[in-house]
Amino acid sequence: MNPGVQLRIQVCVATRLLRITTTVPALAEIRLGIPEKVSSADVDFNVSQRRPVTDELTIQLEKTMPTLLAVNSSPRSKSVSRRLTRHLTEQWKQRNPGGRVIERDLAAEMPAGVSDLWIQGATTPEAQRTPEQRQALKQSDEFIAELMAADVIVIGAPMHNFSIPTALKAWIDQIVRAGKTFNYTDKGPKGLLPADKRVLVIASRGGAYNEGSPADFQVPYLRHMLQFVGLSNLTVVDADKQAFGPEAAEKSVEAAIQKLSQYHEHLAVSA
Ligand SMILES: Cc1cc2nc3c(=O)[nH]c(=O)nc-3n(C[C@H](O)[C@H](O)[C@H](O)COP(=O)(O)O)c2cc1C
Repeated sequence: MNPGVQLRIQVCVATRLLRITTTVPALAEIRLGIPEKVSSADVDFNVSQRRPVTDELTIQLEKTMPTLLAVNSSPRSKSVSRRLTRHLTEQWKQRNPGGRVIERDLAAEMPAGVSDLWIQGATTPEAQRTPEQRQALKQSDEFIAELMAADVIVIGAPMHNFSIPTALKAWIDQIVRAGKTFNYTDKGPKGLLPADKRVLVIASRGGAYNEGSPADFQVPYLRHMLQFVGLSNLTVVDADKQAFGPEAAEKSVEAAIQKLSQYHEHLAVSA
């Protein structure tokens, strides 16, 4: 290997992504042989014939275990959506003892909004991005990598002002990336995330909203955006009437838990 070329290798345990960064604008094609269950120190690579390629490669390791991504967005300590995402996660863990859970708490760590640098980076070919543009896209890359790593995605989505919390909207804005999670084709937009991922949205709300209610900008919006990026295997479980008094609120949560058990059976059967 050319001694002037430096490579930095990072393995992210949570997402099982291997990132290789060259410190010199890359002229190399990097080939990786990664046996399963090796530590980063064992990673064997060689740099073969030079040709212009990107100086940053992100490589998805072959998946060896089922993975659940739990996204929460409620800022409330007594959150109903968190109670339900926790319930599903615990059930899933019992049934998948070797499985991996990725927790993404958007209320604890609010995603950044889309900035000018972010837009410039997202519309610039990867190899030509400036370090600042790369930095602006870092969170987006991480969130998308988490989605890619997951087989099952559960999203806790409270209704806030007839829509979703700011943090969840910011997450959506980070995962919707032209060329990465969607493309426009001759036939219109095409989602690029694998359609076999199973997505469960837990929609908590104070009121009760019929299907097609003009005041509901929560569930129809989430359905649209998730399908837009290719996540069409989507189930919604609602926990509504949270503002109708403690009895009605608890009854609704119990009904949601019942639906989650059925959903879980379905996951187990189709896994
Ligand atoms: C800031 C805020 C705005 C809300 N806006 C609405 C609303 O527009 N419609 C509604 O039915 N409930 C609304 N609610 C009630 C919540 O949807 C309800 O409390 C739900 O349980 C929140 O989910 P969580 O318990 O997981 O936080 C609002 C609650 C908060 C805190």
